[in-house]
Amino acid sequence: MYNIAIAGATGAVGEELLRVIEEFDLPVKKLVPLASARSVGKEVEFKGETLKVKELTCEVFEEEEIDIAFFSAGGSVSAKFAPCAAKAGAVVIDNTSYFRMNPDVPLVVPEVNPEDIVLWKKTGIIANPNCSTIQMVISLAPLHKEFGIKRVDVATYQAVSGAGKKGMEELFEQMRAVFNFKLDKKVEEREVFQHQIALNVIPHIDKFMDNGFTKEEMKMVNETNKIMHSNIQVAPTCVRVPVLRSHSEAITIYCEKEVSVERAREVLANFEDVKVVDNPEKNEYPMPIIATDTDYVYVGRIRKDLYDPKVLHFFNVADQIRVGAATNAVRIAKKWIEMEGDK
Ligand code: A2P
Repeated sequence: MYNIAIAGATGAVGEELLRVIEEFDLPVKKLVPLASARSVGKEVEFKGETLKVKELTCEVFEEEEIDIAFFSAGGSVSAKFAPCAAKAGAVVIDNTSYFRMNPDVPLVVPEVNPEDIVLWKKTGIIANPNCSTIQMVISLAPLHKEFGIKRVDVATYQAVSGAGKKGMEELFEQMRAVFNFKLDKKVEEREVFQHQIALNVIPHIDKFMDNGFTKEEMKMVNETNKIMHSNIQVAPTCVRVPVLRSHSEAITIYCEKEVSVERAREVLANFEDVKVVDNPEKNEYPMPIIATDTDYVYVGRIRKDLYDPKVLHFFNVADQIRVGAATNAVRIAKKWIEMEGDK
């Protein structure tokens, strides 16, 4: 049994972690919810019990004898406190981008590269990839094995949950304002997104880099190849859409071998945690409303390119807070317990 801490327990991903840890039946001896000083004394629910939130400090991990520490409170918080947790002997499962490209830190999607978990010993930290990357590599992995992917072009349709609770609230507030015909006022009050998000799409997530891509897009480029141990060319366009909590992706893969739609459906359907929903005659395809609150990556609209027999197109959708963050983190913890745990 393990003592488990959640740093960022009052946030969108932190709250979902509480639910997923319970649903996945992690062997919990004690659960310690942590957040900023602002939240001390607030209460969270876990397995029917009410737990009081404690302040995230460097000392808390040793005091509470934490074995597994989930971090989901932003990059700068992880930078400051994750090393404290690791020093106190915990394995850190970090949701932020802070450690992801550190060569000594494994970056893990358990369906794709569980074997990398053993590298946790180097620093005590395992990084959870970017949400868009997680759902993309889960659908790329079986196709790469089958057809040998050389290049991926992807356009994302990313939910506001990727910007945390504040992002979700901003969409809600603006939608409410739309229905009250008061949008102008609400737009002036926006603080999370660069532009109005209600009734809009914004082709800009995270900072712009010198190469013209955004940091979010470069995460998809770099993280995909670190997880898949590959050298695939990835060209993303990341777009924020007024959807609450599931990301969608339109993906084109350029392969070494000729592709087959039937074979693609088969290898995807047989892959862990993927559901193929691809029945155009019945208007069945992946959409955020079917993925939300589930732990699967839904893949559909699978079709061969009109011109090149080695090119395949498809669409995938997954719940950003679960598959893209909390569930992947808990799956990492489960694997870590299987492989490295001793209690
Ligand atoms: P708090 O509620 O006390 O601000 P989200 O991603 O939904 O915005 O949530 C962010 C999470 O990270 C919240 O639980 C938030 O706690 C926590 N957090 C943010 N800044 C800090 C900090 N400096 N120290 C500890 N926790 C923090």
